[in-house]
Amino acid sequence: MEYFDSNPRPKQLDEHSEGAQAFIDQHAREHRRVALVTSGGTTVPLENQTVRFIDNFSAGTRGATSAEYFLEAGYAVIFLHRQFSLLPYSRHYSHTTNCFLDYMTHDERGAVVIDAEYRQQMADVLAQYTKAKRENTLLILPFTSVNEYLWYLRDLAILMQPLAANGLFYLAAAVSDFFVPADRMVEHKIQSSEEFNTKRQLSNGDDDNSNENLPAAHMEGKKLVIDLDPVPKFLKQLVDAWAPRSMIISFKLETDPSILSEKCQSALKKYAHHLVIGNLLRTRKHEVLMVSARSGEKWLRVPTDRRTKSVTGLTGNGAEPVPAADPIEIESLIIPEIKTLHSEVIAKGDPR
Ligand code: PMT
Repeated sequence: MEYFDSNPRPKQLDEHSEGAQAFIDQHAREHRRVALVTSGGTTVPLENQTVRFIDNFSAGTRGATSAEYFLEAGYAVIFLHRQFSLLPYSRHYSHTTNCFLDYMTHDERGAVVIDAEYRQQMADVLAQYTKAKRENTLLILPFTSVNEYLWYLRDLAILMQPLAANGLFYLAAAVSDFFVPADRMVEHKIQSSEEFNTKRQLSNGDDDNSNENLPAAHMEGKKLVIDLDPVPKFLKQLVDAWAPRSMIISFKLETDPSILSEKCQSALKKYAHHLVIGNLLRTRKHEVLMVSARSGEKWLRVPTDRRTKSVTGLTGNGAEPVPAADPIEIESLIIPEIKTLHSEVIAKGDPR
């Protein structure tokens, strides 16, 4: 893929690949299934020494929650996530309305203890977290930009090849469709001051008055103009070249319900992988559409009285219903479906 010849390899990738290799070897020896879960949004830096960037919507809830259910289902998980987005297990205590200190209190002797109200739930989460650490079934790797994401995905997919059908890709990250390629990126912070910026663009050799040599993000008068290139469709590469024997699951995010099914069908046809999970921005926490060649279309829905919260996304109307006392997470319905499909793929061969 030409992309990797012209966009830089992340500095920490070699070190992280070494750790991933050891992790994969261990689980291959133990005949355990390994899921690569991608999670969170990817950034598109506008400058090489990055002050400004474009971001993609995602808190990392889908990925972090799914990783826990994969672990519960007996998988080892490589969790490739956007740095500082939600993580498996700690997600229960971060990015919530409660600060983590709100879960604690003092006992009668003044020692810090967990508040009785949260003690049982925290003990359960701690037990799962400790088990994952003890058995070394969770490997956490970070990315920030879309470039880092693509490099990590390719390297990890190649490392996972020996797992063959026991490898699974669950692509829940929100990946940018557009980016600034390395050869069109400015080194330093773009200057908003018109006078200073003209001088700098000219001193960079952009003195031929044509737009051709201008960086992808540049000032034109008082305006910042951003001219992005398309990110190559890596899903095709993943399916055909990087992970041809593994199970591949992609997500499709839409905001218009009337096109969701068609977009999922079209992705399945185009990439010929195993499963597309369609979700809508507003309802993604309580319903998803599973589309596969083997089973056709199937909606998974959390019953109304067992939902965690309504999803308002970025454009929500703020009308939050009271959360259910005993809520069901949609991922607890998704992962068992996937496990069954994965077992069929392993037993009967590839249905692609
Ligand atoms: O993290 P949360 O807040 O819980 O939100 C979860 C989620 C909504 C982000 C998640 O459920 C989800 O839908 N993730 C995929 C979002 C996305 O990238 O959708 P898309 O329609 O832009 O892309 C569809 C597929 O094409 C994705 O699997 C992506 O991996 C792939 N793709 C994207 C860009 C690109 N250049 N090449 C690709 O192959």
